[in-house]
Amino acid sequence: MKMRLKLKTVFVLYFMVSLLGLLYALMQLGQRCDCTEHNTMKDRAIARLRDEVHKLQEEVKRSDIKPSKKSDQPTIYVITPTYARLVQKAELTRLSQTFLHVPQLHWVVVEDAEQPTALVRSLLASSGLAYTQLHTLTPKDRKLQEGDPSWLKPRGAEQRNEGLRWLREMASASRGQQGANAHTAVEDAVVYFADDDNTYSLKLFEEMRDTKRVSVWPVGLVGAMRFERPLVEGGKVVGFHTGWRPNRPFPIDMAGFAVSLRLVLANPEARFDGNAQMGYLESSLLQGLVTMEQLEPKADLCTKVLVWHTRTEKPKMKREEALQKQGLGSDPNVEV
Ligand code: UGA
Ligand code: MN
Repeated sequence: MKMRLKLKTVFVLYFMVSLLGLLYALMQLGQRCDCTEHNTMKDRAIARLRDEVHKLQEEVKRSDIKPSKKSDQPTIYVITPTYARLVQKAELTRLSQTFLHVPQLHWVVVEDAEQPTALVRSLLASSGLAYTQLHTLTPKDRKLQEGDPSWLKPRGAEQRNEGLRWLREMASASRGQQGANAHTAVEDAVVYFADDDNTYSLKLFEEMRDTKRVSVWPVGLVGAMRFERPLVEGGKVVGFHTGWRPNRPFPIDMAGFAVSLRLVLANPEARFDGNAQMGYLESSLLQGLVTMEQLEPKADLCTKVLVWHTRTEKPKMKREEALQKQGLGSDPNVEV
């Protein structure tokens, strides 16, 4: 009996407390809260954020973080001679993926081949770059033969000339088509000769973009030195740091200069001499275009290395050849 009473009391108490709680909650719901203070705080925060957004918009307008319009900046035409060999696809893949990061770049790939190849064609087609595929075969008497030392004859000369020929033709066609304004835009372009085996910093392209005649900068890992570079005094090139034949007219590697298209067009005869002596290929073009005093030093007055004359090791094929003899070579249908 006692026990039952106690239980009953507990139940009643529980019931009462719940009921009270429920009543209280209902009363609260019905009551109008005093939200004015809460709302003004919210309004103030929103107003502050609006001001902030406005300020940032103004700042963006003023600063040069303007979304760059494509046609704003001069095009860089990069001329790359290339030839079929085991590492060719790897070299061109690396280059194309560097160039993808450079705005307003047009890649002129010139194959040292009788016909354009399928490998280069499909690589370019899927590269995502603006490009032109050209070809010209180096005449046999001008080409290195198996076993020749690599310095015996200039490489890529005919191909770079083919690139220059295309540029001149393209420029005169666009002059005819689009009138005087377009003509100026094309002439503002810059021409750079980028071999397929070097390493290029993205910063290099922004350095060369405002080339007036010929701009120059250091090249790393070239001429059996840590770097070669033009020597600059008072903002002008006064000589060259090089370990070999410093008296060459322009002791600069191909990777160390860019030329304005305007200058190329103004000198229709300027080209590379495919018979140039070792180390004189660059001079053979530049001699017809500028004097040392006219060179425009870039890369912090030629104190920064932004391009490296890396050379790719020729892959060894000893095992491949041994397996081929047993009919077990790597599948020739797989493109490497
Ligand atoms: C150095 C310079 O960096 C080159 O710019 C210059 O053309 C060369 O010397 C020279 O004196 O002729 P190096 O590394 O020795 O370069 O030359 P490669 O990289 O073997 O060849 C330069 C370019 O020509 C490359 O883009 C290469 O693919 C191309 N090439 C080479 C051909 O188109 N055909 C060939 O038979 C060999
Ligand atoms: Mn090279």
